[in-house]
Amino acid sequence: MPASRVTPGDLTRLKADGKRIVALTAYDRPTAMVCEAAGVDVILVGDSLGNVLLGYETTLPVTMDDMLHHVRAVARSTHQALVVADLPFLSYQADQAEALRNAGRFLKEGGAQAVKLEGGSRSAETIERMVTAGIPVMGHLGYTPQSAHVFGRNVVQGRDVDVAMTLVHDALVLEEAGCFAIVLECVPHEVARAISERLRIPTIGIGAGNGCDGQILVFHDAVGWGPGANLKFVKRYANVGDILRQAVSDYAREVREGVFPAAEHSFSMSAEARVLFEQELEEMDASCDE
Ligand code: KIV
Repeated sequence: MPASRVTPGDLTRLKADGKRIVALTAYDRPTAMVCEAAGVDVILVGDSLGNVLLGYETTLPVTMDDMLHHVRAVARSTHQALVVADLPFLSYQADQAEALRNAGRFLKEGGAQAVKLEGGSRSAETIERMVTAGIPVMGHLGYTPQSAHVFGRNVVQGRDVDVAMTLVHDALVLEEAGCFAIVLECVPHEVARAISERLRIPTIGIGAGNGCDGQILVFHDAVGWGPGANLKFVKRYANVGDILRQAVSDYAREVREGVFPAAEHSFSMSAEARVLFEQELEEMDASCDE
């Protein structure tokens, strides 16, 4: 039902109407379905799945194949949210033609409606080409995890005026290049607000304060089930990790004690079939004893 999905244009209208945009990450069907049932506008299949699902230290090892696998699952499982697929490290930085092909794969093979990529002015030409080819692009400025080794421990970007002004400039360049929205990650709230006020397209903040046009969190962090649940900018809305740990230890205990499965979790034969079955077993056992 593609016609009823949120579109990039809808996000611009939400901003123009002063309505805030709700975004979350999802990497699989159950999560995507929870997001959709809750009316989330944008589902990002983020390359954060490298940290959250695959156990990597950074997002750098994530491949196009890893991403496509999860993008397909989320796209198949949703009908309303705008599904944005995150281009992984080196899928768009080295070569323009390769970047376009990879972005296109997310729409053509993955079923996403848009892609996201990191970087300011240096990414503008790549973005322009994608938009010209009919691929909606979400930008990503501030702390960009694919540059983790450049930033080191400097997570918050734009505390210095020089860097803050570069961020403002980059945001304007990305808008001009055709981005339909920009993620602002770990940016002082003053800088994020200044950028949001200067753009027609919406900003989606994560660790960027309340002046953005929308907010995104990593789903697992928001529900208390991920490595980042204790980060300063994360609000934990549930403690799913504790609930799951409790459920799994109850299961393990009941299996060890022989309590599970109980009669109500078991299948049975009809009384007639059981009598016949027992007769056959007796005959078989007797013939074995001979
Ligand atoms: O990969 C991701 O989940 C992201 C969000 C944190 C914006 O890029």
